[in-house]
Amino acid sequence: MDGNGRWAKSRNLPRTEGHTEGEENLARLVRVAVKKDVGWLTVFGFSTENWVRPRTEVRHILGLHKKLFGRVAELNELNVRIQWMGRPFDSPEARTPKYVQRAIRKAIADTANNTGMVLTVAFDYGSHAEMVHAARAAAAEGPVTVDTLGAHLYLPELPPVDVLVRTSGEVRISNFMLWQSVGTEVYFTDRAWPDFDGAELDAALALVR
Ligand code: IPE
Ligand code: MG
Repeated sequence: MDGNGRWAKSRNLPRTEGHTEGEENLARLVRVAVKKDVGWLTVFGFSTENWVRPRTEVRHILGLHKKLFGRVAELNELNVRIQWMGRPFDSPEARTPKYVQRAIRKAIADTANNTGMVLTVAFDYGSHAEMVHAARAAAAEGPVTVDTLGAHLYLPELPPVDVLVRTSGEVRISNFMLWQSVGTEVYFTDRAWPDFDGAELDAALALVR
């Protein structure tokens, strides 16, 4: 979900306003995706690389994740099950603060019985970290193969990625779901994330439907 900062800058607003609008847009887009029968929506909220950002910006983004995982009533209304993936809370490198961990755990538990779309939020996530984690866990049990490594990804139930979307004019992937992106269609758009709407989602889905 790239381009929040530029969205704000182009409106003479602080970057934090762009992140706030980005979170609102995710709530809107979840609703739209459910209507369009998307089964799995996985979004990159915060990466293992993003921690070097200014502390005030990081704090703001953390607060927005607490808000996002607090949208349980909306998710239940939409029959959406929320998931999270990132560096496991008990691993030495993990950086998710306790109050965000609590919000994540509660949202997962409170939407666990929903049977519709699965919304996965990647937070403190990086594909390299995920693959190292999976490779170590697989090696501890026996020979490492595509299947055994795949079984130890953060969320092994996630299907391979059909369409990967990158917003805001960046034409690169940036450490997101590399293992899961085999045969993936990629949709690049100049739109900043806060402006990514249903028409944009249609254009991305058209690559696979
Ligand atoms: C995406 O927007 C949000 C996060 C990476 C957390 P950016 O903050 O990267 O926005 P730009 O790239 O500066 O416009
Ligand atoms: Mg960016």
